[in-house]
Amino acid sequence: MAPVLSAHHVTVNQGGRTVLEDLTFDVLPGERVVVLGVNGCGKTTLLRLLDGLGFASDGGVGYDGERLSPALLDRPAFRLRFRREVALLFQNVDAMLFNPTVADEIAFGPRQLGLPDADARAARWAETFDVAGLLDRAPFELSGGEKKRVALAACLAVEPRVLLLDEATAGLDPAAVGRLVDVLANVPGLTVVATTHNLSMATELGDRALLLAPGRKGLLFDGDAHALLHDERLLVESGLAHRHVHRHGAGDHVHAHYHVHDSE
Ligand SMILES: Nc1ncnc2c1ncn2[C@@H]1O[C@H](COP(=O)(O)OP(=O)(O)OP(=O)(O)O)[C@@H](O)[C@H]1O
Ligand SMILES: [Mg+2]
Repeated sequence: MAPVLSAHHVTVNQGGRTVLEDLTFDVLPGERVVVLGVNGCGKTTLLRLLDGLGFASDGGVGYDGERLSPALLDRPAFRLRFRREVALLFQNVDAMLFNPTVADEIAFGPRQLGLPDADARAARWAETFDVAGLLDRAPFELSGGEKKRVALAACLAVEPRVLLLDEATAGLDPAAVGRLVDVLANVPGLTVVATTHNLSMATELGDRALLLAPGRKGLLFDGDAHALLHDERLLVESGLAHRHVHRHGAGDHVHAHYHVHDSE
């Protein structure tokens, strides 16, 4: 099967530093991939490349066999198709929300792309993410989790082929996380690339994990997400887990264990 997304020897230099170095991987249609790594390892930078919002300093990213470039994205036919097929949930959802009402926000994508039944689609996705009661509200006055649910509904309302999620579960309550995980599991054929630094969310977001670490060349890991979670050495090496030594209770027993950061 031909990959839908591919990164070929991608290096990104930003602010005089190398943020990503020599990353190569393919994503097949329908795959669920979770990108893991500590703060600052380049997860957001990578998703922006996959969404055509930034470009590699060296190497490149392909979509459906075509290499993304400013010139390609300037071609109206390609740009329309790419924006219709690939949706990115920004880590900072405030940067995505600009419509006067939640209803307009969710219907914006379908309207822009000239999809039929934009309002019905918006209503359906609002229901899915439990924001149907907020349709008349202004997005800027919502809570953080409400904004994120609106942004998710807006991403899905264009019924993309590829969904890029940047820290989608951060700030969501358990019910909202459950709804998102259900959507990821149930939309047929959807390809997902989702970032998180939260190991406890990894296998909910993806079957395959890519592990990044700051200052490291290439991927530390590319494979089964469950296998990565059992690889303590790699998790410690990436900085996602660290070794704690502490005392339990009043006794003398000193206990050492690996602590996994899963706060958001
Ligand atoms: N516009 C920019 N100019 C210069 N450096 C940047 C810029 N944006 C990000 N960086 C740097 O690039 C590195 C990767 O940032 P990025 O936002 O991709 O990390 P991340 O893995 O998404 O982190 P987090 O878990 O905090 O979201 C960081 O060291 C960051 O300081
Ligand atoms: Mg980020």
